[in-house]
Amino acid sequence: MNIAVFASGTGSNFAAILQAIKAEQIKNVEVVLLVSDYPEALAVQKAKDEHIPVFAFKAKDYPDKQAYEKRILEKLKERRVDVIVLAGYMRLIGDVLLQAYGGKIINVHPSLLPAFKGKDAIGQALDYGVKVTGVTVHFVDEGMDTGPIIAQRVVKIDKDETRETLMKKIQEQEHRLLPQVIQSLANKETVQ
Ligand code: GAR
Repeated sequence: MNIAVFASGTGSNFAAILQAIKAEQIKNVEVVLLVSDYPEALAVQKAKDEHIPVFAFKAKDYPDKQAYEKRILEKLKERRVDVIVLAGYMRLIGDVLLQAYGGKIINVHPSLLPAFKGKDAIGQALDYGVKVTGVTVHFVDEGMDTGPIIAQRVVKIDKDETRETLMKKIQEQEHRLLPQVIQSLANKETVQ
């Protein structure tokens, strides 16, 4: 199964996927493309270090979402991508990619959806004062952090929790769960 990872930021989930492939925790999966809407993103540098092809673009260089998604689609086809993994990609997926890859795009989000959609889910959970939050991997549809849920992991929020400690706990779960879900898709199995 050929995957493209889309990332706007640090790329720690991208790195976790690459690590899981190297460690053979994921088999029969290859990362054939990294797509980023932020050419300076650390994720882009990580991909270059690992000799993974990169398509980095700036949305403002295109007239609209359709135009840059058409260009992304060309790259996906060139690299024969089967599945798209959104790992901290901070843009809504539009019609062009949904029509071509509907049901084959997954996203990792740092909350127990449908709670705390959108930006800064970790801050939203802390502000709300919930006692548990977590991680969700789900199929992507036209909404923001909506779409059928594939798997979730719970993370407990302790009394003295800070944004930093909570982010670390959540990312540890993400780095385990996302590779597991990718493997399950490659095996055409379900994940609990
Ligand atoms: C991850 O925590 C991911 O769940 C979140 O962005 C972070 C990216 O980290 N995604 C969203 O909030 C999507 N709505 P990374 O660049 O280190 O993988």
